[in-house]
Amino acid sequence: RSVGLLFGGCSGEHEISIASARAIAQAFSLDSNQAAYTLLPFYIQKNGQWCDGASAQQVLASGQPLASEATDTPSERWHLPPTVAEVDVWFPILHGPNGEDGAVQGLLKLMQTPFVGSGILGSAIGMDKLAMKMVFAQVGLPQVNYMGITRAQVWSNPCVHPKLCDEIEATLAYPCFVKPANLGSSVGISKVRDRTQLEAALDSAASYDRRLIVEAGVVAREVECAVLGNDAPQASIVGEITYQSDFYDYETKYTEGKADLIIPAHLPASITTQIQTMATQAFTAIDAAGLARVDFFYVEATGDVFINEINTMPGFTATSMYPQLWAASGIPFPVLVDRLVQLAFE
Ligand code: ADP
Ligand code: DAL
Ligand code: MG
Repeated sequence: RSVGLLFGGCSGEHEISIASARAIAQAFSLDSNQAAYTLLPFYIQKNGQWCDGASAQQVLASGQPLASEATDTPSERWHLPPTVAEVDVWFPILHGPNGEDGAVQGLLKLMQTPFVGSGILGSAIGMDKLAMKMVFAQVGLPQVNYMGITRAQVWSNPCVHPKLCDEIEATLAYPCFVKPANLGSSVGISKVRDRTQLEAALDSAASYDRRLIVEAGVVAREVECAVLGNDAPQASIVGEITYQSDFYDYETKYTEGKADLIIPAHLPASITTQIQTMATQAFTAIDAAGLARVDFFYVEATGDVFINEINTMPGFTATSMYPQLWAASGIPFPVLVDRLVQLAFE
């Protein structure tokens, strides 16, 4: 059987996808159980063009985007390489917009080929922080206070709308977090403490997305739980992220040594159980499938656990939280990859 490893993508998380794909490809090459699979890499350039064969292998081997990728503008008419017809099951290890939001999942569905991970609905809800929060609220999962806003509300000629800032200050106060609704890896997110920072953050987030979210800042430990399965999803043990920086921003996430993963997190047993239950509830609520990592804020002083978000295609390098949580829960990386491929057929 051929596994189509789809990576790269038109997303701010392109480089993370390449790193995740390299780890998965290595698992295929190392694990004898997976000799049953032939790996066919497909690389989506930043401009959206799909590459197969030697070009895709080259990106996988080097970990670097193609040298010819000077611009984000498509240089040729978009087309699918004919070799997509050789794929029996897809592993779309794409993070962020266009890859984790249901777009690629729709295309793979039209191809009538099974694929790893959530379908269109789960991917789309999991990507959009506003839609996600509405679904979480519906099933009673506790969350921090937030406001959903649109780009049109932010941009009033010639400045950021003062009335909007008044409303945010009155509703959420400082510090608050300004985020594009559809992104990942903390891209476009700012923590703001005053009006000047708020205006700059809204302006910046609006340049990334039509939909924005502003959240009340919470002082809390950041804990994460991995989920695996389809209709009867299992939760892993819980892990914690610690870091010195102001928040878990892009640099902290991806610079070696800036963040520590503590597995298992040192938590009261009742909190661990609560987080695991909430993780599978969140997974089911958005109609996720295969895998997801669910992230929480744990306020030690009060015992409150707030759900932060669900990631339907979490970072998947050998040192990423998702595979590490499963390794610590008894499922080593190559076995996990194999399970995920099996789940695509269920
Ligand atoms: P992404 O989808 O890009 O990972 P998140 O919503 O998880 O975005 O936010 C990234 C990081 O910003 C979080 O891991 C946390 O460190 C910080 N953060 C986000 N929202 C809040 C909040 N409401 N209170 C405190 N910290 C937050
Ligand atoms: N969006 C990144 C890849 C994550 O959640 O791990
Ligand atoms: Mg996050």
